[in-house]
Order: sequence, then C-alpha cells, then structure tokens
Amino acid sequence: MKIGYVQNAPVFGAKEKNFDEIRILLKDVKADLLVLPELFATGYTFCSKEESRELAEPANGITADFMKEMSIHTGASIVAGFAELDNDKVYNSLIIVSGNKVIDTYRKIHLFNKEKLWFSPGDKPLKVHEIKGVKIGAMICFDWIFPEVARTLALQGMQVLAHPSNLVMPYCQAAMVTRCLENRIFAVTANRIGNEKRGDDDFTFTGASQITATDGKILSSAPVDKSHVSVVEIDVSKADHKMINDYNDVVKDRRMEFYKY
Ligand code: ACM
Repeated sequence: MKIGYVQNAPVFGAKEKNFDEIRILLKDVKADLLVLPELFATGYTFCSKEESRELAEPANGITADFMKEMSIHTGASIVAGFAELDNDKVYNSLIIVSGNKVIDTYRKIHLFNKEKLWFSPGDKPLKVHEIKGVKIGAMICFDWIFPEVARTLALQGMQVLAHPSNLVMPYCQAAMVTRCLENRIFAVTANRIGNEKRGDDDFTFTGASQITATDGKILSSAPVDKSHVSVVEIDVSKADHKMINDYNDVVKDRRMEFYKY
C-alpha cells in the first residue's frame, strides 16, 4: 500500500488559505493513506480559550468537507488534526475520513504545554480502525512521549500509526524509530513548518515529517523548512510479524508480572 504525509506551513486562523496550500500540494498525488499535521488548518498558537473556540468546528464542519474532497481526489483515507467543538468543549482532535465518510475522531489525551489552557483533555478510548483491509491507529503529537499510547494501539492489531503533529522539541522523530521498533509497526508523523509568534509564545515548528518502518528504518524524511509531500510503498503485512530475531517476539516476550506500578 502507499502511505504518505503532507507537511504544510499554515497561516494562523486562515482556514481557506491553508486548504488551498494543501490542494496544490496534493494536486498530482495518489495514495492509500495520507496524514496531515495537527491543527493543520487553524494554526497552533492560541492566545485564549475564546480564540480556540472561534476556530473550532464540529466533526462534520468545513475541515471534514475539505478532507472528503482530498480523499476523493487522491483515493486515500486521510487523517488530519483539527480543533473540535462539541457542546461547550473544545478538543485538540483528529478526524479520519475515507471517501465521503467520516470514520471517527480522536481527541488528544496528552495535552502539551498551554494546550491545557485552550483545550479539554481527550475523553475517547484509543481505537484501531480497519479501513480497506488495513488496521490504522492514530495519536496526536505529544502523545508520542507516552509509549503506552502506541503500545495500546499495537496490541489492538494496529499496522500503521497515523501521527498528526506540530512538533516544537527536537526529540520526536528519533523517538518514533523506537516506537516502531518496539511495536513492529509503521508510523507516519506529519509535522508542520514555520514560526508562530503570538501572545507570549514564539514557536518554531521542526518539520522533518517522517515515515518509519517496522524495523526502525526511516523511509521518508521531509526538509525542516519547506512544505513537502511524500508517499512511499510499504508491505503492510510486515507489521503483523512481531519477531525481531528467531527467539524474541516484542509482544509475547513481555513479562507482565514485572510491570507493576
Ligand atoms: C505538541 O504536542 N504539539 C508538541
């Protein structure tokens, strides 16, 4: 199957302009799964709860409509981050879209930094979705630092981890090698680029979106400072084999009796 990412350079608050950048980036792209960054259409650096609420939308809003358009155009299922409004709460969420259909949303469970001021913490279970025969799991950005997230999804049979991100620290891309190796999964980390100086914050996003294989090999690595699209062909069945040599299985060899906390 063909999996890939879009690395974009969003302008804060300018959803239509940000959709247009991605329409151009995906003009000639065909794939099976495409991952877009966290909050790819709104930008990241909110200054107030009111601002996050103003830019948030329900799971059937204009961002979902745009993703359906891109899914139909590329032939790919699309996983992308958005600010989700549900009743009076705003979540840092992602939507999974396939063709004309919203499959599900996930709400980031580990909020980073001042996200704790603007968003409510995720309240939905980690879940794997089988889409066109492939088992896809998803997490958002800082969820990476909690190995339990990828492990929980891997134990549900996840083959490919979709990972929309807005990374500002330099550690994640290297850590994803370990996340993939310890679970024998593929991962697509879709990051953004650019700088946002708003309120007291001044964030530079690290780009270097990455596709990582079950053996830790980096199959694609984007530039740190340019919008970029990459699609690679993978043999997804490799994620079903948990042996790292003739003797070690990363799932069956776990010693649960020692893992008390
Ligand atoms: C992050 O979770 N956006 C760093």
